Amino acid sequence: MSDTTSVTIRQIHPLFVGEVEGVDLTRPLSPEEVQAIERGMDRYAVLVFRGQNITDEQQAAFSRNFGDLERPGAASNITKPEDRRLGPEIADISNLDKQNNRFGRDDRQRFFNLGNQLWHSDSSFKPIPAKYSALSARAIPSIGGNTEFADMRAAYDALDEATKAEIEGLICEHSLIYSRGLLGFEVTEEERANFRPVRQSLVRTHPVSGRKSIYLSSHIGGIVGWPRPEAMAFIRDLIEHATQREFVYAHQWRQYDLVMWDNRQTMHRARRYNDIGETRDMRRTTVAGDAPTAEQVPEEQVA
Ligand code: OGA
Ligand code: MN
Repeated sequence: MSDTTSVTIRQIHPLFVGEVEGVDLTRPLSPEEVQAIERGMDRYAVLVFRGQNITDEQQAAFSRNFGDLERPGAASNITKPEDRRLGPEIADISNLDKQNNRFGRDDRQRFFNLGNQLWHSDSSFKPIPAKYSALSARAIPSIGGNTEFADMRAAYDALDEATKAEIEGLICEHSLIYSRGLLGFEVTEEERANFRPVRQSLVRTHPVSGRKSIYLSSHIGGIVGWPRPEAMAFIRDLIEHATQREFVYAHQWRQYDLVMWDNRQTMHRARRYNDIGETRDMRRTTVAGDAPTAEQVPEEQVA
C-alpha cells in the first residue's frame, strides 16, 4: 500500500482517541488521506483535528468520504423544517434559534437539546444507526461545554464472563422518547409517531477490528422479552460500568476543533455550560451506517 500521506495520529488517552496532524479538512482529501483517517477511526474510535476553520459545505464534503450522510429531519428532532437554522445535512448542536438568538430558559427546543447531556450513541433510535459523527466547533463558551467520550470496547472487555454471556444476543429498544423522558420532557402525539422505538443488538462486533463493544445509549427504554423495570435497572448498571473514569476521554474544545467519533464503538455526552448567557455553536455531520444491528418488528405488529 502506498504511504504518501503526511497524516500522523498520536494517541492521547490510554485506551483510545487519536489527535491527527498533517491534514487540511477544508480541501478535498486524497484516497490515501481518507484511508489513513479511516484506519485511525477503526483503531482509536475518536479522532481530534485541531485548527480546522471549515464551512458547512466543506464539512459535508469531508464527511462524505466515509459514506452517505444522514439528514437530521423529523425522525431525530422536534424542530419544524421552517425553523431550521442550518442546511439539511447539518445537525444543529448549538443553543441558537433561526435568528441566531440564544434559546430562552423555558424554550422547549432547549429542553430537548439538554438530552445531549445524557450518555448516548447518535441515531441509535434509527433502524440503521449512525456510523461516524463529525462535530465542528464554530463558537465555544468560555467555561464548560466539554464533550466526553467513553470507549465501549474497553467497557465490554472489562465485563466479567457471566455478564458477557448474559448480554450476548440481547436486543434493546431505542427511542428519543426514552432519553427525553429521563429528563421529564414530554413529547406530542406527532413527535411520538416520529420517534417510534427501534431494535438494536446490545453487543456489536466491529467489522474491521473484530472487537466487541456494548451498544449502549440513554435512548434505550427496554430489552426485548424482559420486564421493563428489570431491563432499565440492568441498562442503568451497564451504563454506569461503561462510563467509569478510566474509559472516558473529556474533550476540552478550542474554536475550530473538529472531532469525529465512531458511534458503533463509543458513547458520548455534552457537559453543562451557561447556555443562557454564552453562545456555543457546534455543527454535526453524521455518516449513515450500512446495516441494521437487529431485525425490526414487522410493520403489521405495530400498534
Ligand atoms: C452530538 C452531541 C455533544 C456536545 O453532537 O451528537 O451529542 O458536547 N454533542 O455538544
Ligand atoms: Mn450526540
